[in-house]
Amino acid sequence: MKTDVREEFDRAESRARSFGKNIESDLAPKFIRVVENAAIASARTMGRGERELSDKVAVESMRRTMDTIPMHARIVIGEGERDQAPMLYIGEKVGAEFPDGMEVPEVDIAVDPLEGTNLCATGAAGAITVLAASEAGGLLHAPDCYMEKIVVGPSCKGLVDLDAPVAENLKNIAKGMERSVQDLAIVVLDRPRHEKLIAEIRAAGARIRLISDGDLSAGIAAAVIGTGVHAVMGSGGAPEGVITAAAIRCLNGYMLGRLVINKPELEERIARMGIRDKNRIYRAEDLAPGNQLIFAATGVTDGALLKGVRFFGEGTRTSSIVLTLMTGKVRFIESIHLAKRDDVKVRFA
Ligand code: FBP
Repeated sequence: MKTDVREEFDRAESRARSFGKNIESDLAPKFIRVVENAAIASARTMGRGERELSDKVAVESMRRTMDTIPMHARIVIGEGERDQAPMLYIGEKVGAEFPDGMEVPEVDIAVDPLEGTNLCATGAAGAITVLAASEAGGLLHAPDCYMEKIVVGPSCKGLVDLDAPVAENLKNIAKGMERSVQDLAIVVLDRPRHEKLIAEIRAAGARIRLISDGDLSAGIAAAVIGTGVHAVMGSGGAPEGVITAAAIRCLNGYMLGRLVINKPELEERIARMGIRDKNRIYRAEDLAPGNQLIFAATGVTDGALLKGVRFFGEGTRTSSIVLTLMTGKVRFIESIHLAKRDDVKVRFA
């Protein structure tokens, strides 16, 4: 591990010690159940063409599992405002009742119960269930609008700029990754709004992976060597941007984001939220400034980083990733959830 990374972890650790509680060690193992259960529930609806149903079962499952975990938690990014969403709405308090005197952590949670609802509904690759958590105040309460984003891995820290020409960013990414621009694979959401961006990437000679949905999981893949994703560019959801940022900090990657405020109602919304500069460029550290961060995701359908849920008759197999910042852990977790049967068997792979 590079010294500056170690120093960053050490600084985070000492800040967290003074903060008092180790939220990461306490909650990360419990949050695995939250994303796993939600993934199993939504995977049952895979390919049914009912995106709302797929999302609903993930939301209900997440909420149910969260309510078994002793914590004082507040949803800061969720399914929308209270009047739009029956559960996991912004501001909702979640967590289990706990005996008097038991010390429980105060946390903020950002959820995307099913990232890639269409992907799940059509059985396409890349759907995940996901959450990020931090000590109170550690995640930006981003409005539900678009965010322009660039996400790259550790070797491209500081080498990209949202206002630089696309060709220049690609040249710098290639340099950081010690390869030619032609060897890069850039993920872009396949949307009409990205026509110019796509044309510019093509003109520069880089390769493109157009995705129909799921820039959050693509962002995480960009920060992990060997996934075949070298950067994510273009605009996607701002809430997804905050959750991506939590993962990027844990993976020592680099990310820039800028809210797309293109309607008067959004101007009013961000003003009410206390965001004064609508053109501000946020780094991952601004989007997810927590000293302690947890990121947990489970694959629903197969993706670049995580396998989807597999039902094999005698049980269910899930693949998850759990990241923590202060404790510097990257855990890939393969779980077998056994069926309650007398003759149940466990296979190695
Ligand atoms: P859902 O899971 O809510 O369907 O969002 C999927 C997604 O593709 C995100 O990954 C992305 O950030 C956003 O939607 C893009 O929004 P849009 O479909 O409006 O371009």
